[in-house]
Amino acid sequence: MISEILKTELKARIAHAVTPREAAVDVMKALQAHYGWLTDEAVGEAATLLGLSTLQVEELATFYEMIYRRPVGKKVIHVCDSISCWALAGETLLEQLADCLGIRVGETTADGCFTLLPCCCLGNCTEAPTMMIGEAIYGRLTLQTALVYIEGERKLIEGGLR
Ligand code: FES
Repeated sequence: MISEILKTELKARIAHAVTPREAAVDVMKALQAHYGWLTDEAVGEAATLLGLSTLQVEELATFYEMIYRRPVGKKVIHVCDSISCWALAGETLLEQLADCLGIRVGETTADGCFTLLPCCCLGNCTEAPTMMIGEAIYGRLTLQTALVYIEGERKLIEGGLR
């Protein structure tokens, strides 16, 4: 259950939108930040706040790849698999990172820190290959630099800073 403060904030955000549906991603992201992922409870709360059916929220949630309908780690590592990154071995990088993290693509590390997922273009094509950890973008990656960034993020998580 979300707090009355968050509920009030989200209602204000919806009130400022041209249509409630326009605010749906913001609402889902806020609920996701609260629960860690978009739980069934969160879908119901989003539907109530937005005046949509749970099916309509579900449709929106499953369309956006940064909305998670299953539990994820504290940070999600998205590795771009679109054309520029693919041409510069982004696909290989994704598989190598999975090996280094001891998981398969789509899984979460045993310590719960990271979930590894492929994703569409992150808008950082000139610095391919690119990945995003949480909200932070990292480009011109090699396996070595990617692992350095991941370890940096892990330290921030363990230090309670993320
Ligand atoms: S193709 Fe990877 S960031 Fe655009």
